[in-house]
Amino acid sequence: MKHMKTYHSMTHDTDLGPIVIEGPLSSNELGHFKFHEQLTAFRPADKQFAALMGIADFPEGRILVARAGDTIVGYVTYLHPDPLERWSEFNMKDLIELGAIEIIPAYRGARVASNLLKLSMMDDFMENYIIISTEYYWHWDLDGTNLSIWNYRKVMEKMMATGGLLPAPTDDPEIISHPANCLMVRIGKNVPEESVEQFDKLRFLTRHNHRKMREGL
Ligand SMILES: CC(C)(COP(=O)(O)OP(=O)(O)OC[C@H]1O[C@@H](n2cnc3c(N)ncnc32)[C@H](O)[C@@H]1OP(=O)(O)O)[C@@H](O)C(=O)NCCC(=O)NCCS
Repeated sequence: MKHMKTYHSMTHDTDLGPIVIEGPLSSNELGHFKFHEQLTAFRPADKQFAALMGIADFPEGRILVARAGDTIVGYVTYLHPDPLERWSEFNMKDLIELGAIEIIPAYRGARVASNLLKLSMMDDFMENYIIISTEYYWHWDLDGTNLSIWNYRKVMEKMMATGGLLPAPTDDPEIISHPANCLMVRIGKNVPEESVEQFDKLRFLTRHNHRKMREGL
């Protein structure tokens, strides 16, 4: 599969002034901007910026950013699932994961994340993918937002729905270990039926593997 990426951009007004939402960007393009020091939800800002540059150059990797002037204040990442995770089990070429989305505290609640998702889906090539996001409440910034687990889950659902990602059932042990965790999924219009069937097996891998064991396969 040849992964095609088409650049889109929009201006979004916030109380703090307009911001540009754009991408996917290459590592070279990202290098023209500053990365805000408060983008630390997943790791220190400098390490996260380096990680984003790496992803930007993966054939399937996509980085879209929100920036105020030349400072990146938010971003979203898409890439194939981590090889160590269940979601890479069948090595599906048309499965990509929304790996991380983050907005600095000053711009939160202004629909910046929602618009990053909306812009992501403006690229028609996204219709060729099954896009997943695994949500674990222990990754959420509960202290920084002062939201309860359930209100945070509501924010996540509203934000993801803007990009067409909806909660979907799975038997993944980590996801089902807490009721606020969930799998979010968007199946593109051009995804073939075989991929959808394979993805259904992946969502219920434990059940699928048990059946295979029973049948002696
Ligand atoms: C989760 C996160 C990305 C959301 O970003 P955001 O730009 O604030 O999200 P949005 O403004 O698009 O919010 C989506 C909806 O939730 C609402 N919302 C957001 N924050 C809220 C809050 N603190 N209280 C109440 N509602 C809130 C928004 O008003 C919007 O609702 P609407 O669709 O009815 O207008 C941001 O809080 C963040 O960076 N958190 C740390 C990293 C993280 O947890 N990432 C997710 C795991 S990968």
